[in-house]
Parts: sequence; structure tokens; C-alpha cells
Amino acid sequence: MKKDYKLPSLNDARARNKEVSQKLTFILDDRFKGIGEGKKYYIITHGCQANQRDSETMAGILDALSYTPCENEKQADVIIINTCAVRQGAEEKVLGEVGALKRMKTNNPDLIICIAGCMAQEEATVKLIMEKYRQVDIVFGTHNITSLPKLLYEVYTTKQRKIEVFSKMGEIIESVPVTRFMSHKAWVNIMYGCDKFCTYCIVPYTRGKERSRAREDIIYEVEELVAQGYKEVCLLGQNVNAYGKDISDEYGFGDLLDDVAKTGIKRIRFMTSHPWDFNDRMIEAIRNNSNIMPYIHLPIQSGNTGILKKMNRRYTREEYLELFDKLKRELPGFAFTTDIIVGFPNESDEAFEDTMSAVEHCQYDNAFTFIYSKREGTPAASFEDSIDRKTKEERLQRLNERVAYYANLNNQKFRDKIVEVLVDGISKRNSKVYSGYTPENKLVNFTGSDVKVGDLVKVKIKEVMSFSLNGELVEE
Ligand code: 5AD
Ligand code: SF4
Repeated sequence: MKKDYKLPSLNDARARNKEVSQKLTFILDDRFKGIGEGKKYYIITHGCQANQRDSETMAGILDALSYTPCENEKQADVIIINTCAVRQGAEEKVLGEVGALKRMKTNNPDLIICIAGCMAQEEATVKLIMEKYRQVDIVFGTHNITSLPKLLYEVYTTKQRKIEVFSKMGEIIESVPVTRFMSHKAWVNIMYGCDKFCTYCIVPYTRGKERSRAREDIIYEVEELVAQGYKEVCLLGQNVNAYGKDISDEYGFGDLLDDVAKTGIKRIRFMTSHPWDFNDRMIEAIRNNSNIMPYIHLPIQSGNTGILKKMNRRYTREEYLELFDKLKRELPGFAFTTDIIVGFPNESDEAFEDTMSAVEHCQYDNAFTFIYSKREGTPAASFEDSIDRKTKEERLQRLNERVAYYANLNNQKFRDKIVEVLVDGISKRNSKVYSGYTPENKLVNFTGSDVKVGDLVKVKIKEVMSFSLNGELVEE
């Protein structure tokens, strides 16, 4: 079949240059205004917080075009699936979803189906979608969100399928509309992309080079959120500790934390920290500002130096544990979580035992654990792997048991304690129960009355589970 579209290239996406990213300002072309009049949209979001925030940008753009959101895909005139490529399982789920939309497209030929996010950056996936999933009208990449008005306009006017995926991105685009999905907690991007190139990971290819936003733009965004009544911001980056390295030798993540703290926002979180870039200046900022929450997510990935080297994580087991012990010492009362991959190519029993012993050492509050998933285009995809699936699954299960044990142990110290909870909403399981998070990021379900989303309330903990706490509202 002759192809009349340009596929993205993971190979091109690998390239990096030292140029400082240019800042552009988003302007909505008059031609596109009002194209969504009378039409509804529905966005399905997979993956990490960066995707959640990107979906809010897509919603903001669609709202600016006069589309209105709707409750489910059946009512929609435009459906966007914002995809994740970090593991095979996430990709298969999306392809299943797209397959299921085929019937809807047959019933309603005017329906526009869009694929966005990290899968759209992958050559093989886009090829597959263009050839086998003809119900998809638009494919746009992580660097092409601001082209959405143009792409929709072109589909309406030409009735042709459109694909726009830049493999590389050197710019930062500001003043893009946003419709936030929550009214009390907000995601704030502080940087985009990743230059770490862990050998298993697709993110440096799908999200491009590390680009830090100007500190003024970040502070302004947080100040506006405070003025709008937001209680919490989560500063987002694949590797927040590298903030600023691409634009300044003087101003880093520690300085940014101090400045964000000065805005007076009640709660500050950040995601994700890479151990390599964690320095004393950051510890100082975290310790000195009471509105920075006592919670650190510090991915270890493996507890074995040989595997860490093959992963290109840039630290040894000893270096990670040393940093971890220092953080524990200098930040008492903090909760710590991590990410762990089991079954990395040729991970020996001994290497896996090193991961288990690191978990025994760190006694994490929680860990997000994954079986290694081969990502085409990454270096690890060509590593030899003789470990069978069953062994990997057994390792994951053993690991999860210990993770749950320490999660439970850490939670015990909250029994009968009064904690502060930022209320997220009504529990999915019981409408008389509210839920929210403590400063340490512990999920709390509690009973009470007259509580609203966004309230900061006091709750007495009565019951402790491994991954949540139960309590009662303390009337003040
Ligand atoms: N296979 C399994 N897990 C992965 N992660 C990233 N890439 C892969 C992969 N190829 C995990 C890492 C990372 C988290 C977001 O996802 O643990 O920290
Ligand atoms: Fe992936 Fe490593 Fe970058 Fe995290 S730091 S996004 S695991 S390459």
C-alpha cells in the first residue's frame, strides 16, 4: 500500500543538541474559532501524570474551540485517546479500545477518533494504526497538541485522515489553554522530556529532550492557582531534580521549590525524582518549607549494581542506599515510595535477591512494581534474556508481598493519630465515606458530614490497612 503520510521516527527522536529551548506563545487562529459549536468531546487518558496534564490541555483547546465535554464516548462527536507507551500492556489496552470504537464509527461516520500521546510517537504503532485501524481519523504526537485546532479543521474540510507527529521538539509553548479536571489539586509542568536514557525506557524518545520552563512562568501559574483557591500543586517532570540544568547554572530545583513555597500554596508535591540529580540544596528547600509535603518518590528500579549499570541508571546500589539513608535521616517523618522493575534481561536470582534486600533496607511506604517490558527502539530491546516469564511472575509476587508488608508496617504508626486530609471526594465504594490524602500521601477513607472537595480537615485514624487508612472526621 502506498503511504501518503509521514511516520514518526524513534531514531530521530534519540538525537539531542545543546541548544536552549525557544519559548513560543500559543495563539488560536481565527479560522478555527467556533468549529466545535454544538459538538461534544470525550477524552480517555492512560498513563502518567504528564498525560493527565496533557489531557487537560487538550480539553482546554477543545473548550476554546467551543466544543463541550460529555460524560461518555457514546455521546461524543470527538473522542481522543491519550495513550501510554511505557509498557506493552498499556499499548494492548489502547488497541483494544480503538478496536471497540470501530462499531461506533460505523453507526456515526461523522465521529472523529483521535490517537494522541506516547504511542503516537512510535513508528511501528502509527503504521499499524494507519493500516489496520482505519476508524482513526487523527494521530497527533506529544509535541503536536497545539496543532489540534488545525487538524480538526482539516478533517472537517478535507474529509481525509490526518497525522502530525514531530519526532523532535526543541520548543516550549506557553499560554496554551487548559481546563483542569480538578478544582483543588493541579498538575504544574516544570519541565518536559528526559535526557537520562535508561536503557529500558521509551520516554526519552516519546517526550523528547529535557526542556525546563522559565521559573517566572511556573511561579505565575502557581500564583494564579492560589488565587483560584487551589490547595495543592504537583510539580511535574520525568526527572524534576534536573530542573533548570538546560537554562541556567545557578537556579535549580531547590531554588524553584523555595520560590513555589513562597506563593503560599498549602501543599506542594513533586514527581519524579531521579537519585542522580538529588542534591543537598533540594534537601534544604524541602526541609525548610512546611508547605512542601513530607513525601518523596525515589525510583530505585533494581537493587543490584550490575543490573543498574545495564539499565544506565548512573548510580550503584550503595550510592542509592546512601542517598536514601541520608534523606531518611534529614527528613524525619517523611514517606518514601519507589519504582522497581523485575525480570530485566538476564536478571539472575542473585541480582533479584539484591532488589529484595534493598526493599528490606528501605522499608518503603509503597512501591510500584513492574515486570520488564521490551520496548522496540530502546537499547535493552536487543539485550539477551534467558529468564522465563514464570520466574519473572514469581519474583514479582514475592516482591509485592514484602512491599505490602512494609506498607502495612509504615501505616501502623498512624493508628489513633489525628491527620490532616485534603478531601478529594466521596469514596467509590460507599457514598457516606469521604476520601483524601494526608501530607505523606496516604489514602484516607473517613466518615463525616458537611465535607466538601478541597477542604482540609482533621481525621482520627481508627483502622490501618496496607494501602489505605480508615478514620472519622474530627469536628473542630
Ligand atoms: N518495562 C517495565 N517497566 C518500565 N518502566 C519504565 N519503562 C519500563 C519498561 N520497559 C517503569 C519504571 C519507571 C516507571 C514509570 O515505569 O519503573 O520508573
Ligand atoms: Fe525513563 Fe529513566 Fe527518563 Fe525515568 S529517568 S523517564 S525511567 S529514561
